[in-house]
Amino acid sequence: MINIAVLASGRGTNLQAIINAVQEGKIDGTIKIVISDNEKAYALKRARDNRINTMVFPYKSYKNKENYEDQIINCLKNNYIDLVVLAGYMRLLGSKIINNYRYRIINIHPALLPSFPGLNAQKQALEYGVKISGCTVHFVDEGIDTGPIILQHAVEVKQTDNEETLSDRILKYEHQLLPRAIQLFAKKRITIEKNIAHIT
Ligand code: GRF
Repeated sequence: MINIAVLASGRGTNLQAIINAVQEGKIDGTIKIVISDNEKAYALKRARDNRINTMVFPYKSYKNKENYEDQIINCLKNNYIDLVVLAGYMRLLGSKIINNYRYRIINIHPALLPSFPGLNAQKQALEYGVKISGCTVHFVDEGIDTGPIILQHAVEVKQTDNEETLSDRILKYEHQLLPRAIQLFAKKRITIEKNIAHIT
């Protein structure tokens, strides 16, 4: 059983998918803590409704980035966290956290990386005119959405799509992909070789 921390800044539908998967026995792990930088995040309510501990670290209330990161690292260590899951966490993690948790932090991104990293991935995909997009779960490194890819799922982009319809279609698959990746991690089925993730 692994100890999981979920970091979320917003509505938390991916957090909900993880909560559901844990409750259904599809993940060999426990969500020990939900961390947010935004005290108003609906994700926090979802956590509390499921009696999961929460912590809020509002970035602006810390002296500097290092101080901010130290607080998060302390929280992760105090909870004996094995895996950190970024589920709509809108802040870039600094190198200190990444170094402490190398290949133990995963992120869900609403595009087929390495295409369309960063913000508004679905809008980027529509503006480029790709016919297939999707979602990616990857390990987090120092770059923006650049770490080793664990799982991807392709989603058709329809001619009639707008940002909302495409985002909704991709989101359904995010909710499947992220719990699956967590379970692969829990089962120690992900190995890294030359910075490439392999599923065994
Ligand atoms: C998702 O689209 C995720 O891919 C992106 O942020 C969004 C978070 O949605 N990183 P939610 O808060 O999980 O509903």
